[in-house]
Amino acid sequence: MSARAWRIEVMHGVNLDQLGRRDPLLYGTLTLAELERRIETDARELGLATRFFHTNHEGELIERLHSLRDQADAILLNPGAWGHYAWAIRDALDIAALPTLEIHLSDVQSREPWRRVSVFDGLEQRFATVSGRGPDGYRDALALLREELERGRG
Ligand code: DQA
Repeated sequence: MSARAWRIEVMHGVNLDQLGRRDPLLYGTLTLAELERRIETDARELGLATRFFHTNHEGELIERLHSLRDQADAILLNPGAWGHYAWAIRDALDIAALPTLEIHLSDVQSREPWRRVSVFDGLEQRFATVSGRGPDGYRDALALLREELERGRG
């Protein structure tokens, strides 16, 4: 075990504050607050510390990414629709230079063609994507993040 828990910045992008009133078949029925509680519990069981951030404003997400150095060890990001077109967020992740896992509740690869695009494709920091597993995907993502951080330390 590490001396202190790895710090995971869990970031939710545009429209994710509307969980609970979005299509339950795609996104489930949990509100964002309920999802965050679940993520926090799962993370604690895995020995990870979490901090949460949500915004509907692209510039705010970018400024948060700029501030992360020395504040987090890794990023778990559900960018919402930004992941399909917001190239400035890709650049900000590059600048943040932290291992990043991209997550989507729904299976973006089996939906409209524009959702199959990820602006993070080819970005070295994004070491994995979890998509289409609903809220359970967050637990998988946290386990993958821990593995990646342990590997990096090794
Ligand atoms: C999403 C998928 C995106 O395509 C969509 O725009 C969202 C949510 C997901 O979690 O499945 O807002 O990121």
